[in-house]
Amino acid sequence: MNRRELLGGAALACVGLNGLAQTQAAVGLDGLARTSGRHFGFAVGPGYADKEPVKDLLRQHAGVITAENAMKWRSIENLFGVPDYTQADRVSAIAAGLNAQLRGHTLAWHQSTPARFVNATGEMFVQAQTSHLQALVSRYRGRIHTWDVLNEVIDADQPSGMRESVLSRLWGADRYPELFELTRVADPHAKLAYNDYGMEQDEPWCEHRRSAALHLLEAWVKRKVPVDVMGLQAHLDLSRRFSAARMLAFFDELSALGLTIQITELDVRDHTATTDLAARDAAVAALYSDFMDACMSHPAVEMVVMWNVTDADSWINRWSQGQRRPDGQPMRPTLFDDQGQPKRAFDAVAASLRQARVKFDKKAGNHV
Ligand code: XIL
Repeated sequence: MNRRELLGGAALACVGLNGLAQTQAAVGLDGLARTSGRHFGFAVGPGYADKEPVKDLLRQHAGVITAENAMKWRSIENLFGVPDYTQADRVSAIAAGLNAQLRGHTLAWHQSTPARFVNATGEMFVQAQTSHLQALVSRYRGRIHTWDVLNEVIDADQPSGMRESVLSRLWGADRYPELFELTRVADPHAKLAYNDYGMEQDEPWCEHRRSAALHLLEAWVKRKVPVDVMGLQAHLDLSRRFSAARMLAFFDELSALGLTIQITELDVRDHTATTDLAARDAAVAALYSDFMDACMSHPAVEMVVMWNVTDADSWINRWSQGQRRPDGQPMRPTLFDDQGQPKRAFDAVAASLRQARVKFDKKAGNHV
């Protein structure tokens, strides 16, 4: 049991009702998550993770660190195709300093495939992707809790259900299982995840994506592909409906395949909400509550990771192609405002973690 677990257990054991708010702040979100056998954390870049207020928020709340960009192929490789692991090493050191688990993100993704492969032959690419994967996984061998081996290959609009991209063209969609096999050999202790978006909410296109994902994962499990985890990005959006029942039915199907579930990139876009700040924050918090309560009621959910820490460093507010609010205001997608102060979303998530009705079942996901 580490310091954070001890603190969490002791503080929860002696808390009275009015001490609850204070205790939540003292225990931190990861401490609360641990009471149901889960982990809680954040995706960060080395630049802002080292600065206040993010540094202190991570110290209080992070039990998991994901490298937001630093472990992506495009970030590692310089213009001449030479790998430079400086930034990735910094994120790994941040996780170690926090005594937090490290999530590796991501080994194969069409958006992080270096541009030099646009006109490459399949043979050249397979060789380069293989050596990149082997070098990266071996470098952090024994340090990584879970690798996102493959990211975002579902496209429910294609008859095959699979995205057409540089990766499907040069690596080949039928060969995706080999990525998992290579990773397992390079680090036998890391859990291996397939990670994707758009499967959490109650819209017809999300339903199609859920079906396509189940179809793919069923086939992989049948072939004994070493995939352990479904990573659900959970970039939620206030303009979309949410149904806990629909999402939990999907979770049941994933866990029936022997997979655990990790929420890997949680945030909430509020581009359609009113201009009134209090009303916006209440609406964002309500969606966090509904989503997190559902997650905490499922025994296959083992961790929850936020995509970024404060509204100031959220990718949604940095992302030039992203949706903008009609009033020009930045979005408020994370748990902390741009000064690092907790918002109602923080209270909502803390309450869900504290009230988790069901513990994570360690035996979930033992199919391989
Ligand atoms: C995003 C980063 O947050 C941005 O900084 C970067 O410009 C693009 O990638 N799904 C993923 C993440 O799996 O890797 C993406 O991260 C967000 C969507």
